[in-house]
Amino acid sequence: MSESGITKIGVIGIGTMGNGIAQVAAQSGFDTLVMDVNDDMLKRGMGIIEKSLERLVNAYEKSGGEKGITAEDKDAALGRLKTTTILADLRDCDFIIEAVPEIPKLKEDINKKIAETGYDKLLVSNTSGISITRLAAAYGKPELFMGMHFMNPVPMQAGVEIIRGLKTSDATYDTVVKLCHDLGKIEIPAEDKAGFAINRMWVPFVNEAIRVVEEGIATVVDVDKCTLCLGHRMGPLMTADYVGLDTMLFIANVLEEEFGSAYKASPLLKRMVESGQLGTKTGIGFYKWDGFKAAGINPDVERYRIK
Ligand SMILES: NC(=O)c1ccc[n+]([C@@H]2O[C@H](COP(=O)([O-])OP(=O)(O)OC[C@H]3O[C@@H](n4cnc5c(N)ncnc54)[C@H](O)[C@@H]3O)[C@@H](O)[C@H]2O)c1
Repeated sequence: MSESGITKIGVIGIGTMGNGIAQVAAQSGFDTLVMDVNDDMLKRGMGIIEKSLERLVNAYEKSGGEKGITAEDKDAALGRLKTTTILADLRDCDFIIEAVPEIPKLKEDINKKIAETGYDKLLVSNTSGISITRLAAAYGKPELFMGMHFMNPVPMQAGVEIIRGLKTSDATYDTVVKLCHDLGKIEIPAEDKAGFAINRMWVPFVNEAIRVVEEGIATVVDVDKCTLCLGHRMGPLMTADYVGLDTMLFIANVLEEEFGSAYKASPLLKRMVESGQLGTKTGIGFYKWDGFKAAGINPDVERYRIK
């Protein structure tokens, strides 16, 4: 029995975050049902999960059992994972985690539709920056709603920011904390203010790193090298490419709206999103990408200067 008392988890969206969340839920022993818009997305997402589990099996074999998981664990996790394109199929889950793109109206519509299916249990959003109180209102049962902000890549990152909306109940909060433990994660409680805790710090940091590039103070590679001095494992520009520059811009705009012009997105970040250069997901951002491997610097960025 899990600490949270939950047995079946629904995940909406099998993209960057959803596939990681689904993998971790299944690996942690939960029956897991993942929903996405079509079979192609589900097939792609399941392929990523299988490869990720396979890497863990290889790690187990290479480390003599010190790291990773056994081939039996992998098969058991895959056996617990089911997929669907029908939202109403999630009705009999005990807990639903929404991980669709960072578009307020899309998330609000999904919350309304989940409520219309008759689902009346806990619902959390993996939103990076949309007000939890606003999304809770769309669900119509705000006491059963929270933010659960997983970090990328979910199977590797232990921290999960957990955010109460204005009306989230104590019982919901307690269950979410327990679920973090069931998933082998560490909860980081934060309040429902723009950017919560992590992105309030992280997005201005990335934004300033981009300004350093666009003002010609340092190159992309040198900006990312600076973080070696800070003890970070990866530079801000490379990490932003993994997160998605559209997501970074969205959060920068949310921060500016709530806290003022000091949080304004840098012109280069806006230009990159306008030109569809969003990072790993489009094959080019600050770096050129060969899958998830950096393969050089984006020449458009090296050229772009604002005095
Ligand atoms: N990418 C990151 O590093 C990161 C980190 C933390 C939080 N987040 C947040 O997680 C959420 C998801 O981001 P992502 O990067 O995984 O996005 P993504 O674009 O990689 O994946 C989103 C998935 O949702 C699916 N989807 C779209 N509309 C849907 C619908 N109506 N019903 C069901 N599925 C639908 C898409 O087909 C896709 O598979 C966002 O709120 C984002 O801000 C992202």
